[in-house]
Amino acid sequence: MKLTKQQIESYRENGLIFIPELFSTKEVEAMQAAVDDLTAKDTPGRILEKDNKTVRALHGCHTTTKIFDSLVRHPSLLTSACEILNSDVYVYQFKINFKAAFGGDLWPWHQDFIYWEQEDGMPSPKALSVAVFLDEFNEFNGPMYFIPGSHKESLVHLGQTGTSEVNSQQNDWKSNFRATLKYSLSKETIAKLANEKGMIAPKGPSGSVLFFHCNLVHGSAPNISPYDRRLLIISYNSINNIPNFKGQPRPEFLVSRDYTPLQPLLDKVLI
Ligand code: SIN
Ligand code: MN
Repeated sequence: MKLTKQQIESYRENGLIFIPELFSTKEVEAMQAAVDDLTAKDTPGRILEKDNKTVRALHGCHTTTKIFDSLVRHPSLLTSACEILNSDVYVYQFKINFKAAFGGDLWPWHQDFIYWEQEDGMPSPKALSVAVFLDEFNEFNGPMYFIPGSHKESLVHLGQTGTSEVNSQQNDWKSNFRATLKYSLSKETIAKLANEKGMIAPKGPSGSVLFFHCNLVHGSAPNISPYDRRLLIISYNSINNIPNFKGQPRPEFLVSRDYTPLQPLLDKVLI
């Protein structure tokens, strides 16, 4: 798959591109099977919901699991990320957000770049995320909400902005993955932006893919439906935008320190 000129223009304008059913049912099933294996293991990158039972997220699986090592080099994702960022890239973060049926909690409204800048010292927003639907995303199971065009705004964050130290301590990293986030946006900011620009919630079958800018405002509601909603997110950073870590960097399963430019594999690499 190669992005069209219109898709790239739309990304610059709106901050995202949605591609329904990029991956086949067989490819999705192969990824789901790998996730099932990983979920059972109590690894350092596994985060639980408030109930201390339900898995909320897994991190860094591209370094431990073959199919995800291949996924981050899949040409449809990697070549598109390089094209959008106009640069070679490496994997900055890899995570799977579970949002389980009857229990997956929300993600408050936020932008990603402020975390990467404040926690890791990323110099500029030359990074993006690719989200792969591992389940169907519908109106019931807490799809992501986006405010198109919001990546162009400079916004003020609530929370500890201005008081937090760059690069939090190792044991503090989990605070950025709970339902109460460190740098969220105020209700007033969201209301104003949504009135001006509207909101969208891309929905579609498993295997669909979203590319989104690291300054695009997004969030998602809790999942009270009986349908699981697993979302795999690869964040690619430009190799010209390596973080300047100060102090103790966050764990490597969270923020990769392997800056080797990724090379694309073949199209059918997952199955
Ligand atoms: C995120 O902002 O990284 C997570 C959003 C979601 O899983 O809904
Ligand atoms: Mn986010």
